[in-house]
Amino acid sequence: MNHSVIEKNIGLMVVLVTVMISFGGLVQIVPLFFQEETTTPVEGLKPWTALQLEGRDIYIREGCNTCHSQMIRPLRGEVERYGHYSVAGEHVYEFPFLWGSKRTGPDLARVGAKYSDEWHRAHLYNPRDVVPESNMPAFPWLFENVLTGELTPKKLAAMRTLGVPYTDEQIASAQEDVAGKTEIDALVAYLQGLGLSITERR
Ligand code: HEC
Repeated sequence: MNHSVIEKNIGLMVVLVTVMISFGGLVQIVPLFFQEETTTPVEGLKPWTALQLEGRDIYIREGCNTCHSQMIRPLRGEVERYGHYSVAGEHVYEFPFLWGSKRTGPDLARVGAKYSDEWHRAHLYNPRDVVPESNMPAFPWLFENVLTGELTPKKLAAMRTLGVPYTDEQIASAQEDVAGKTEIDALVAYLQGLGLSITERR
């Protein structure tokens, strides 16, 4: 086709530019769905327990992910501060993943086992009690709200349809596993599990 035809017809140019850009995007994105590195779980990766999965939902509900990323970049400064850089295989059971890029607070990808449960509880009740200069909000209601676990089996089942290997027993006992626990129990259980699959191996 004579190039001047495209240059003089903005409608046609828009269509062709769109085709070009989508093609470029697809070439980059589609292979990721099939590459082993991005679809195979790292060794030792376990799905979240029922309690941790509820904790993860609370983490999202409270907007923790708007201030905290969960992705350590492979740069020296990051690795020295936070630990081993994040790899795709750690996140294959995460729907949706919570990598993020905005950091008002520190990255939490490997915060699991860094502090005691008591530290997290005190910190979430009122961050200033343990970190005086903190500007993180307090979340005191998490100590009062009690989980019924009514929807927990459905949540596990939904995750299974996405490829998370939950067993029938885990789904069957999910309600019992969380019922009566407080939201803070669930959130701390989740935080304590963050990033362990790979650090445990070292
Ligand atoms: C408005 C931004 C903001 C929000 C929302 C927020 N945080 Fe933070 N967070 C911070 C800042 C700033 C720090 C650093 C100071 C401190 O330790 O309190 C921090 C620190 C932390 C730490 C300690 C990390 C470390 O390695 O020392 C944890 C754990 C944490 N936050 C968890 C949470 C959780 C869980 C939530 C949601 C319930 C949450 N944060 C919501 C800003 C935030």
